[in-house]
Amino acid sequence: MPQPKRPRHLGVIMDGNGRWARARGLPRLAGHREGAARARDIVRWAADAGIAEISLYAFSTENWARPEEEVRGLMALLAQLLPREIPEMQKEGVRLVALGDVDRLPARARRALQRAIAATRENRRITLALCLNYGGQQEIVEGVKRALAWALAAEDPQARIAELTPERFRRFLWRAELAPVDLIIRTGGELRISNFHLWDAAYAELYFTDTLWPDFTRAEFEQALADFAARERRFGRISEQVRR
Ligand code: FPP
Repeated sequence: MPQPKRPRHLGVIMDGNGRWARARGLPRLAGHREGAARARDIVRWAADAGIAEISLYAFSTENWARPEEEVRGLMALLAQLLPREIPEMQKEGVRLVALGDVDRLPARARRALQRAIAATRENRRITLALCLNYGGQQEIVEGVKRALAWALAAEDPQARIAELTPERFRRFLWRAELAPVDLIIRTGGELRISNFHLWDAAYAELYFTDTLWPDFTRAEFEQALADFAARERRFGRISEQVRR
């Protein structure tokens, strides 16, 4: 198993916007605004570091349960920021894709997203997967439904079901076109995955930091990459096997 020095696909749980805002006596949405600025930064840092794919957990399937004003504010922010970011994405070679059940987003946010995706589809330097209305369990359940539909459409459904392996099942996930996540960074001090990239979390490396997302710096990003490069990824094997 080759030892990757850089993650091919980096996932980020951008937690701590609310606490950052509260500490300054600002509304929570001000924290999300500053968080969005860091999101822009990390895509640039990742592209500079030669990372091919980055996915940002911007809105989870559980985030709908937040106060209505905050949900509305986040969706408005998305609709406002995405069109503005297109020139920068073109300049940096960012191809935007969405990961999640985006059909459920409010129309304005959905349209802004579709436009930005269409405008950047030819870019090749880095793929940015914006996770919106994303949930790892939901993704797996949707995958099971697709796999069952595929099996039931065959002459011998039982044989198809018997053929399913984790590798084959992966193509039924929303993320089929993305490489498995190698490294997940979570800011904000919580030590959990929160329904992010559940399938790939099987072997992803995890980097947790207490830093609140709006305070995340390039130096800490580099620290997370250095940490990743120093880890031995064994994928269930023993050390002597992977070092060969
Ligand atoms: C978690 O912080 C952050 C989010 C739920 C949203 C992340 C959104 C952005 C970085 C802005 C860009 C995305 C959109 C959709 C415009 P938190 O609110 O849970 O912080 P807390 O734990 O301190 O309360």
